[in-house]
Amino acid sequence: MNKFKVISSSEISTGSMESVLVNGKQLMIVKADGKFYALDDLCSHAQCSLGTEGLLDGMTIICGCHGAKYDVVTGKVLSLPGTHDLNTYQIEEKNGDLYVTI
Ligand code: FES
Repeated sequence: MNKFKVISSSEISTGSMESVLVNGKQLMIVKADGKFYALDDLCSHAQCSLGTEGLLDGMTIICGCHGAKYDVVTGKVLSLPGTHDLNTYQIEEKNGDLYVTI
């Protein structure tokens, strides 16, 4: 596993999500309730980008394509048509930048 610098923490505000490409892997960075989370970006239903097309409702990610829901902390799928949980990744903030371990 390696640690990669993704974006600066000031680029993402609470309640928002950003899609990022990390070492060829499409992830999303989420800031919810003041904390950062890193998860797979692609919805398990039809591969829509959650970070680009989705919505954040509290601690729940809602896919913008067909409404699948995921838990932002665990990546667990909460409703159909999502079929699989999202992988979650370790994220840390250091000197104003965010680092993800994949
Ligand atoms: S692609 Fe996400 S619910 Fe269909």
